Formats: sequence, structure tokens, C-alpha cells
Amino acid sequence: MSFLPTPHGGKLIQAYKPEYDVSHIEKEWEIDAIALSDLELMGVGVFSPLTGFLGKEDYESVVSKMRLADNTIWSIPVTLPVSYETAETLTVGEEVKLKHNNVLYGVIKVSEWYEPDLTKEALEVYKTDETAHPGVKRLFERGPVYVAGDIILVKKPEKGVFDDVWFEPKETRALFEEKGWKTVVGFQTRNPIHRAHEYIQKAALETVDGLFVNPLVGETKSDDVPADVRLKSYRVLLENYYPKERVQLGVHPAAMRYAGPREAIFHALARKNYGCTHFIVGRDHAGVGNYYGTYDAQYIFSEFTEEELGIKPLFFEHSFYCTKCEGMASDKTCPHGKEDRVILSGTKVREMLRSGVLPPSTFSRKEVVEVLIEGLREKTTV
Ligand code: ADX
Repeated sequence: MSFLPTPHGGKLIQAYKPEYDVSHIEKEWEIDAIALSDLELMGVGVFSPLTGFLGKEDYESVVSKMRLADNTIWSIPVTLPVSYETAETLTVGEEVKLKHNNVLYGVIKVSEWYEPDLTKEALEVYKTDETAHPGVKRLFERGPVYVAGDIILVKKPEKGVFDDVWFEPKETRALFEEKGWKTVVGFQTRNPIHRAHEYIQKAALETVDGLFVNPLVGETKSDDVPADVRLKSYRVLLENYYPKERVQLGVHPAAMRYAGPREAIFHALARKNYGCTHFIVGRDHAGVGNYYGTYDAQYIFSEFTEEELGIKPLFFEHSFYCTKCEGMASDKTCPHGKEDRVILSGTKVREMLRSGVLPPSTFSRKEVVEVLIEGLREKTTV
């Protein structure tokens, strides 16, 4: 008997068919890296119950209600944008090959196409229509027509350095079962793992059987630390500070939306599909700039019942190292003032790393910092 949660919507969607005959399909489109990532994630079931890019009814329902048309919770639209010229050539029911850098990865069976209200999507999903927001900027750049239809994944993208840590939900579920974990907490990050991350992960791990460290490695904004450099830092951190038998590393190849609260729900549902029973939501989860309140991504969970979500969020306060406590703490556990707390902004840390300055070990493990500085240096000299 499995203790792991039922996939979202009831079953894991499996749309990977490498044997699918595409010889009869003439039309082909070049898709961007985000669409490729969405294609793969739908193909292997990370985005269950989605079977394809959203149709108009589902799209409008997700935008305004955070639910698919059948009422299943879904907080971020997964859409395939094309130009007006491409849209003019479409026929319902036709199949189109989906290529990226001229390599064939999938097929879409076109069911409809529609012009989205991008400003509404921005305001509802991202809570702003300012193009200074990286998710909104991308949304407007990608527009103007969305093509809907079920997909088939015919080829999985190459994994490169991520090969040994790239798992599909059916694989992570098997891994968790093999380890005998009845409860597993998932951790999302788009950053290197610093002491605050480690603290909340380990605090969560105190109460569950296993920790699934699941960093996002799809498209991120250009000033985030590149995923391959981060991967090296995750490996060295886990090697030195985490118990092997209670922790599993695996990457999440999704594109980052920076949609704060809505993305926290989206992140949690994907982790449920991977087999997690719990999901960590800390300070300003998936946020960017000052678009969201520090704990908005936690409050949004109260709009749904736990039963409907099928994964339990674990909330954490803003954590830091306190020099007086001589340990990691948060407002909940530390009585001392600002002057005793080691708090560095993400921007500040990235600046330090890029200029080779070591953030203190109270902020980030020495081994992690060394790998990051070296990795970023290599990037700038290539
Ligand atoms: S993101 O994917 O949510 O954008 P980030 O690396 O910033 O990535 O955070 C990963 C997770 O750790 C999120 O759940 C976030 O809320 C939480 N987190 C990050 N920093 C802190 C902190 N100092 N205290 C508590 N939680 C934090």
C-alpha cells in the first residue's frame, strides 16, 4: 500500500510516446525554451492533470478562479503562444510538430486558438501589469494568440549535467517508496541553498521521513545564479551536511514565473505529483522585487482546503542567523534585534559572489560559497 498522495486530478498523465509516427505531419513550429519545458512536464506528468496547452474555457477559469473548468485547482495558465500570422493558417484537428532549435520534441493536436486578454492575465496571475516584473515582461513578449490542444512528447530534452538528478514523477514516487518514506517534504528553490534554506528544510525534516530537495532548473531571469553552477553547490552541500538516507536531490525542469502566491500553489501541486506529502513555503516564496507581501504565498493556501490540495504546506517565518542566539532563528524564536541578525538580500549576495567576496559562513556554508564563486568565475571567463 502506498502512503504517497494521489496525483493531482487522480492519475499521472503519461504522454511520452517516442514511437509516435510523425511522418504524416507536415506543419512544424519552433517553440521557445519555456514551451519546451511545459511540453516535457506535461508529457511526464509533473503537470497532471494537464494533457495539453490550455483551451479558452480552462484558461479563463484558471486566470479568474485558480481552477480548471472542471473545478480542479490550477493557479498558473500553461499556454502555447503563436503569432497572428501562424494563427491564420490553423485548422481544428490538425497536428503540428513542435521543435526547439530545430530538434523535434513533440506534437500538438490543435483543438482551438484564441486571443488572450494579457493585461487581465498579468493583473490576476502576477498582481501587476508592470513589465519591470520578469514574468509579466515575458507574458507580453510571448503573446498574442494561444493555441490549445493535447500534446504528445516524442523526445525528452537532453539532461547534460543534470542527468543523474532528473527524475519523472513515476521515478520519484518509486524512489520514495523504496526508501520507505511515508511522508516527504518537497523544497523548491531557484537559488543556491543558504543557511536559512537549510534551517527550514531541516526543521521540516524533523517532523517527516524524507526531504526532497527539488531546485528549479528551467528558465530563470538572467541575474539569478545559473542552474549548472547551483547544481554543483547543492551537491557539495548535501555531501557535507545532510544525512544521505533521509534526503533526495532531484531537479524540477520548470520555468520560473516569479508569480509569488499563485506560483506557490503551482509549485506545491507539481511536488504532489512527484509524490511529496508536504511542501515548504517560507518567506516571499517565488517572489521578485516588492510585488508581493512577505507571507502572501502562505496566506493563499487558506483559499483551498487541504483535502482538495492534497499536499500539506509547511510555513516558515523569515529565518536568519542571530549572533546572540549563536544559531539560526526567526522572529518566532529569537528575541534579539536587527543589529544581531545576519540578513543579506539576494541581490547583495549575488553581487558579492560575482565579485569574488565571500559571504559569511553564518549566511552560507563555506563549501557552497567556494563552489559558487568558482562557477561564476568560469562563466565570466568563457
Ligand atoms: S523561490 O523559488 O521561492 O523563488 P528561494 O530560493 O528564494 O526560491 O526560496 C526557496 C524557499 O525558501 C521558498 O519557500 C522561500 O519562501 C524560502 N526562503 C528563502 N529565504 C528564506 C528565509 N530567509 N527565511 C525563510 N524562508 C526562506
